[in-house]
Amino acid sequence: MTQEIIVKASSLFLRTGALAAIFGMGLGISMGITQDHTLRSVHAHINLVGWASMFLFGLYYHVVPAADSKLAKIHYYVALPGFLAMMAGVAGLMLGNGSFEPLAIVGSLVTFASMLIFAWNVFSTTKSSAASKPAAVAPAR
Ligand code: HEM
Ligand code: HEM
Repeated sequence: MTQEIIVKASSLFLRTGALAAIFGMGLGISMGITQDHTLRSVHAHINLVGWASMFLFGLYYHVVPAADSKLAKIHYYVALPGFLAMMAGVAGLMLGNGSFEPLAIVGSLVTFASMLIFAWNVFSTTKSSAASKPAAVAPAR
């Protein structure tokens, strides 16, 4: 018998954020050791777009179950490739390979699009105080 395992967008974002922190800090430590700060911006954005933003998305979806919807899953599957493309593109650029520019641009725009999806979700789920309460304690209607 197969059992469907449903992974929520909150878990996906929290896990990706935690992994990004490991990669971002690892890169920061290696930059400190080698005294080569070429990838400073990659380090900064792995930590800020990956760790800080994604963990924040995950926390919002965890605290507001009404927001942890299909739209939140779409948000994740737009945000992840956007983030990876942007980081790969910026890393290539920083390392002096101009052919990575389109990847950095597309990654940035997709990352921006993912933020628009999140903003839409936040506005939809903060319309009433009931919507932003955890489902378990929301008044039954
Ligand atoms: C083990 C942890 C970390 C280490 C060893 C580390 C190391 C570094 C190093 C060596 C630089 C380059 C500084 C320079 O070129 O002037 C840097 C820059 C930066 N780091 Fe980290 N970092 C760590 C964690 C973080 C975290 C958690 C964040 C954000 C949440 C972060 C955000 C930044 C930013 C924004 C910059 C760019 C600052 C600027 O351009 O002035 N770092 N970090
Ligand atoms: C679509 C998303 C984003 C794009 C395209 C973008 C683009 C950029 C660019 C072009 C720079 C200048 C880099 C340089 O001078 O080397 C920069 C710097 C910076 N950005 Fe972003 N950014 C994005 C998202 C974010 C987010 C979400 C945060 C914070 C939560 C952030 C925080 C910073 C900081 C602190 C710096 C200065 C550190 C550095 O020079 O790397 N950015 N960003």
